[in-house]
Amino acid sequence: MTTDEIVEVAEDYTQDAHLFAELLRAGGPVRRVRLPPRGLQCYLVTGFAEARALLADPRLQKNSQGIRELFEAKLPPDAPQNSVGQDLNWHMLNSDPPDHTRLRKLVNKAFTSRTVARLRPRVEEITAELLDALAGQERADLVPSFAAPLPITVICELLGVREEDRTEFSDWSKTLLNAAVRPEDAQNAAQSMFAYLTGLIAQKRAEPAEDLLSDLVHASDDGDSLSEPELVSMAFLLLVAGHETTVNLIANGVLALLREPEQLARLRAEPELMPGAVEEFLRFDGPIHLATLRFTAEPVEAGGVTIPAGEFVLVSLLGANRDAERFPEPDRLDITRAAGGHLAFGHGIHYCVGAPLARLEAEIALGSLLARFPDLALDAKPDELVYRQSSLVHGLEALPVRLR
Ligand code: HEM
Repeated sequence: MTTDEIVEVAEDYTQDAHLFAELLRAGGPVRRVRLPPRGLQCYLVTGFAEARALLADPRLQKNSQGIRELFEAKLPPDAPQNSVGQDLNWHMLNSDPPDHTRLRKLVNKAFTSRTVARLRPRVEEITAELLDALAGQERADLVPSFAAPLPITVICELLGVREEDRTEFSDWSKTLLNAAVRPEDAQNAAQSMFAYLTGLIAQKRAEPAEDLLSDLVHASDDGDSLSEPELVSMAFLLLVAGHETTVNLIANGVLALLREPEQLARLRAEPELMPGAVEEFLRFDGPIHLATLRFTAEPVEAGGVTIPAGEFVLVSLLGANRDAERFPEPDRLDITRAAGGHLAFGHGIHYCVGAPLARLEAEIALGSLLARFPDLALDAKPDELVYRQSSLVHGLEALPVRLR
């Protein structure tokens, strides 16, 4: 079946992302939509089986040139053009094989479970310092005080970003992911980011240090086929991924527990359930809403719909992870359910390279937070909480809590 119906998506769909996905899925697992803010027309996938199949389908591609050409062809003529950040685009998440294979190979080893396990003592130390800083307070916003600084510190230390540069970098990163930002502000943030990363790479080339970015500079100098634009874009991707994802796993996980006292009590009583609980937080309310943009290189059939060649496809990871066909009673948080197999980290060749690091950080962060603050409680009504305006990240602007 081809479908002519186009669902007009409301501007505020990010504020109730699960309801949005559920309503779409009720009309079918693959729907044609027009997305704000620029009126982009695409096929949006909310069924688990269809999402999993399409994420791993080589007929769906991601290379930035193909995406750009399709944007030019598809966007309404009066839509603002998106040339923001093109210098930062030459990374693996915008590549198809063989480029993707080559780029990913360069960092795979740095993020295996074994390599990442060595970071445990340092992640515990940073976590303890952040919790110490909260210790005297009655109330706090857990996003800026805890959930964000932990993964930001870890990824900046891994790549070798100086402490004094981190606030500026975080601000640019936030600006770039904000769908509601003015195009000139996004352009400025991208230019600042590019200039900063180019400088940082020059510095690592001149004075190599014990960090991943220095290793990557050497890999490219040794002829391991990493061009300068690819190097800058790799640093950009790893840093932004490290800044914008795990923060939401921690904050969304805390929120889920504070809203389900029985589950919270169970996890406090049986802390060994934490690894499984983290998988359930990823399934139940993951950090990424829509996976990054793909397009069909040839016609593809999914969920009874034929998506013609040359169409954009977006996969709702939140929607897929709450498909009752795959996870019974999907809207219920159950830290003991077999949540493995969820799509919060994507699927196929672009499966998240940082998944072992994210899991480690979340287990330590959530375990330590619960142990330190036995009376932790939500300090807002759930409907007062505001989500970030982004099609990509699903995360809270703030998470007010009472600590005692
Ligand atoms: C809970 C935290 C995280 C979540 C939920 C997450 C989620 C994802 C998802 C869904 C994708 C695939 C996107 C797509 O196919 O369109 C992805 C890819 C990626 N993630 Fe993560 N991520 C997390 C943490 C991290 C961290 C900490 C890093 C930093 C090292 C990272 C680095 C990457 C990279 C480099 C890719 C691209 C992989 C490729 O194209 O082959 N992620 N992530």
